[in-house]
Amino acid sequence: MYFMNLTNLFSLFLLSFVVLVRGKPLSLSPRDVYVPPVLYPHTGTVWKINNHHNVTWDNSDPPVNITNKIGRIMLRKGSLTTPLILADNFDILLGRIEVMVPWVLEGSDYQVVLFGDSGNFSPLFTITS
Ligand SMILES: *[C@@H]1O[C@H](CO)[C@@H](O)[C@H](O)[C@H]1NC(C)=O
Ligand SMILES: *[C@@H]1O[C@H](CO)[C@@H](O)[C@H](O)[C@H]1NC(C)=O
Repeated sequence: MYFMNLTNLFSLFLLSFVVLVRGKPLSLSPRDVYVPPVLYPHTGTVWKINNHHNVTWDNSDPPVNITNKIGRIMLRKGSLTTPLILADNFDILLGRIEVMVPWVLEGSDYQVVLFGDSGNFSPLFTITS
């Protein structure tokens, strides 16, 4: 009985160690962190629901060794990033990816977030129906 408890305690210890390690941000050298700025959509852009658009970003100056080359684009409204994924699993070096505007409330406080190593917000733009 005592032995079992000790084993459980040890597993718990191991688990919390894993969680700690995973939760800890990796220390990266700055040149490897690639956060290209979003060029489109920009201020004044109006997207209509269900239309297709190319989100574009500046890929002219990537570091030699990019830590994470896989990109993801999410939609943000107001001060919240929504759970909506517009594009995923693409090469961050492409500089462009086509997305479909999802069926969302109209608003002029939308942004896209481009994730690679980190997240980069576009300027605010509008989605209409
Ligand atoms: C996105 O860019 C690709 C490549 O230039 C082009 O073929 C496609 O038509 C563009 N899509 C839109 C919605 O403009
Ligand atoms: C990039 O990675 C390669 C292979 O790991 C390494 O030899 C090289 O020094 C790295 N270059 C930079 C600029 O970090």
